[in-house]
Amino acid sequence: MMETKLKIKNFVFSGITAALTAGALLSGNALAQKDWPTKSINLVVPFAAGGPTDSIARLIAVPMGQALGQTVVVENVPGAGGTIASTKVARAAPDGYTIYIHHMGMATAQALYDKLPYDPMTSFEYVGQVADVPMVLLGKKDLPANNFKELEAYIKANGSKVTMANAGPGAVSQLCGLLFQSRLGVKLTNIPYKGTGPALTDLLGGQVDLLCDQTTQTIPYIKDGRVKAFGTTTMKRLPAIPNVPTLNEQGLKGFEVKVWHGVYTPKGVPQPILDKLNAALKTALNNPDVKKRLEDANIDIVPASKVSAKGLKDHLDTEINVWGPVIRKANIPD
Ligand code: MLT
Repeated sequence: MMETKLKIKNFVFSGITAALTAGALLSGNALAQKDWPTKSINLVVPFAAGGPTDSIARLIAVPMGQALGQTVVVENVPGAGGTIASTKVARAAPDGYTIYIHHMGMATAQALYDKLPYDPMTSFEYVGQVADVPMVLLGKKDLPANNFKELEAYIKANGSKVTMANAGPGAVSQLCGLLFQSRLGVKLTNIPYKGTGPALTDLLGGQVDLLCDQTTQTIPYIKDGRVKAFGTTTMKRLPAIPNVPTLNEQGLKGFEVKVWHGVYTPKGVPQPILDKLNAALKTALNNPDVKKRLEDANIDIVPASKVSAKGLKDHLDTEINVWGPVIRKANIPD
């Protein structure tokens, strides 16, 4: 009752007062957009620290912050394959101080989760695509198998005794792992983590047998033999690890997974702020250190035309339509 009264009272403006207030608000908003950013910006990451998404976020956060004149602080909000973070961002204030990086999980979530509290196509603004990351099927160092053929035989002999880590439903490590199992016609014991950062730690420690992970930080471990690499998810071998055959050439024909990434904001962020974010993202992706770090991990920076709102939104739309039917048909558990 009190609240209703208050609302009615608030609407009793004289015409002049209302016009003046609206004018003041408008110029205040325009001023806030012109001055933006006046404080640090939160870059939300939907997986645990130390993983591939986190690494790319931290790589672009510094040059983006330099371009914007404010610190870009990475905030890890892991859980439920990225949907907890997506929900948080969709509900955040559209003031440009919350931005978001997510991979293709943005396109797969709708088919994986029954009641998603956001819509990937309408709950966000789109800043631009970032990079495409290949994946590698990894095994712990002490696994008895030394190549893909031996791995196949080991899996067939041991079945569900073999454990495979992933970063939860909607994570690309889960999709890659399930695709691998379905192609082999086996069901392993799948173990979810809050990101492939902690999953890789357990693979290195020998607590889990297999993990399909992105190349973002796995290449040094492959090169120094701390993990075994059984195959890449690319059609061509990766220059950084030329001795690792593709899964395609080892019998899993057409086994291709490349993980694309995009930067988003909550819906309603004003265009001038989106433009500044887009310019900062472009600057970050042109930074020589960023380029080198990505190149070393055989990660492709997307062409400039895709580092745009249209580039990201169109790609997201296409990918939702590609993955939706595949996931629904496969009946992937959540
Ligand atoms: C991560 O950053 O941990 C990964 O991108 C998770 C995944 O999707 O596998």
